[in-house]
Amino acid sequence: MVRLPPVIGHRGLSALAPENTCAAIHAAYSHGISWVEIDLSLLGDGTAVIFHDDTLERCTQHQGHLVDINREDLAWLDAGSWFSHEFAAEPIPTLAEMLSLLSTYHMGLNLELKAQPHVSHATIVRCAYSHIKKYWKSNQPIVISSFDHDILLAYRKADPDALLAMLYEDLQPDWQSVAHRIQPLSLHCHYTELTQDSITAIKSKGYQIAAYTCNNLNEAIQLWQSGIDTLFSDQAHLFTQYLNNKAE
Ligand code: G3P
Ligand code: MG
Repeated sequence: MVRLPPVIGHRGLSALAPENTCAAIHAAYSHGISWVEIDLSLLGDGTAVIFHDDTLERCTQHQGHLVDINREDLAWLDAGSWFSHEFAAEPIPTLAEMLSLLSTYHMGLNLELKAQPHVSHATIVRCAYSHIKKYWKSNQPIVISSFDHDILLAYRKADPDALLAMLYEDLQPDWQSVAHRIQPLSLHCHYTELTQDSITAIKSKGYQIAAYTCNNLNEAIQLWQSGIDTLFSDQAHLFTQYLNNKAE
């Protein structure tokens, strides 16, 4: 069975490089981080890119909606300067580029599928599935997650062997019946919403648990002690360093 690692770099190593860019993956790799989480979205022309928001202003120098740009716009959009001038002109990566890069680095991947109003579930699933088949050259695992559990159900139909993860802000009362249909590897919840009872209940059903997004080492230590398998962190390099020192 695939075991999730204790730390996953959230949107790459997003404390040290602009989130969801190739630079954030280079930074994660060079700090010894073995897994990353990134967000999949589609542009207006259906191009699959790694980007978190529906709008451009937070993570680029530009205004507008992601759905209003196309593949040719990736050549001029700057997704790095907002973070630091050191990353000026860092592009929004395509999913194809990102899968190839992560394969080269032999990193594990959690690909989060973002629901978008203008895109059908079938399109999102087909896009992710076909890209992974074509561009994932590593023997490391890929876990597909989403807050939209209908997307996960569609993915399960497309790929009975896929490793899936149900995302929750806070765990909902019907989680067990939904999990029974999706057959996930893991449940991923906001770290402040998890209780010892919910952790125990999830683990007793055989699912792994990930908590997002924790950037404080003392809180991280408590979460690991409470039975959490994985933490998403923007500061994954600090958590990795702590765990490596502890193991020595
Ligand atoms: O996958 C964990 C976390 O990334 C979910 O929330 O908004 O950071 O994509 P968000
Ligand atoms: Mg995410």
